[in-house]
Amino acid sequence: MSVTPTVLYDSHGRPLEYVRLAVTDRCNLRCFYCMPEEGIQYVPRQELLTYEEMTRLVTLLAGLGVRKVRLTGGEPFVRRGLMGFIEQLTHIHGINDISLTTNGVLTAPHVPELARMGVRAVNLSLDTLDRARFHQITRRDELPQVLDTFYALLAAGIRVKINAVVMDGQNIQDLVPLAELTRDLPVEMRFIEEMPFNGGSHAATLPWNHRRIREHLEQHFGAFTPLPTPVGATASEYSVAGHQGTIGIIAAYSRTFCGTCNRIRLTAEGGLKTCLYDQGVLDIRAMLRGGSSDADIVAALTNAFRYRAANGFEAESQRPLHQLSFESMSTIGG
Ligand code: 5AD
Ligand code: SF4
Repeated sequence: MSVTPTVLYDSHGRPLEYVRLAVTDRCNLRCFYCMPEEGIQYVPRQELLTYEEMTRLVTLLAGLGVRKVRLTGGEPFVRRGLMGFIEQLTHIHGINDISLTTNGVLTAPHVPELARMGVRAVNLSLDTLDRARFHQITRRDELPQVLDTFYALLAAGIRVKINAVVMDGQNIQDLVPLAELTRDLPVEMRFIEEMPFNGGSHAATLPWNHRRIREHLEQHFGAFTPLPTPVGATASEYSVAGHQGTIGIIAAYSRTFCGTCNRIRLTAEGGLKTCLYDQGVLDIRAMLRGGSSDADIVAALTNAFRYRAANGFEAESQRPLHQLSFESMSTIGG
């Protein structure tokens, strides 16, 4: 018997459709905008949600109308057994869109299997095409492996979005070469405003906001044509005359897209975030491990989603501590 799930709306009229799962907070790179050189204090392994716990949660969320799951981290592929977990997710009734965000260092060998399992899209984090600058930004010399992943994804027909964080004094000279990839390849090249979640590595300012990024690129490529934005999208998308791929700009710090936000996040330690900028609104791990029934968990998720903040500024203002930089994207999952 197939049950049509009821879609859950928050009190601002936004539906819940999409969950991002940080499967680990560990990472094999040390991107300076995400964590300090020595890494962050990782969550002890037993405090990470198990794959069984995540499968149970996603099943409950599918019953609330969630259709899409994105696996993030940290780096998802540093957690053992990831491919088996993805396989399990493909069997959950109602989930019809599974994707992941990876830094691409360990990903290439898994690409054919990801395609076989029906993974539709992979977001690859890549801030430069220059090997020395890649090393400087990520503090690891792994660019060739990431490019192997990129070409393997294209060859397998998996949709690729490349995410580059725009950093003053670090990779501004790389923006045009990265955008050039869209000339002959069917990729979406996305430029992201740098957010303040960097594990305390530095204070964040925003010299490169979405407008300046666009102006910079248009100076080189000519005027962009805005494309229709799918509901719930965070990127403003543009086409460039004569290019196969598209350009996206994500105002992650300016938060221009909150009005249609359709997603929730589960942090590596099993905390629920109904906004990237909130402090965590529910400890789901405690419920899962404290013997809560499915009905109790569904009620708690429903309640947390229904009363979430209107936007990222409100969520930020409700934090007891305003120190965003103490968090790392590696725990939140991007
Ligand atoms: N600001 C903006 N984006 C970030 N990411 C990680 N840290 C930050 C930050 N401080 C990006 C990564 C990855 C995505 C999940 O989040 O580059 O592509
Ligand atoms: Fe790892 Fe991604 Fe953070 Fe870089 S941004 S250190 S790849 S989790």
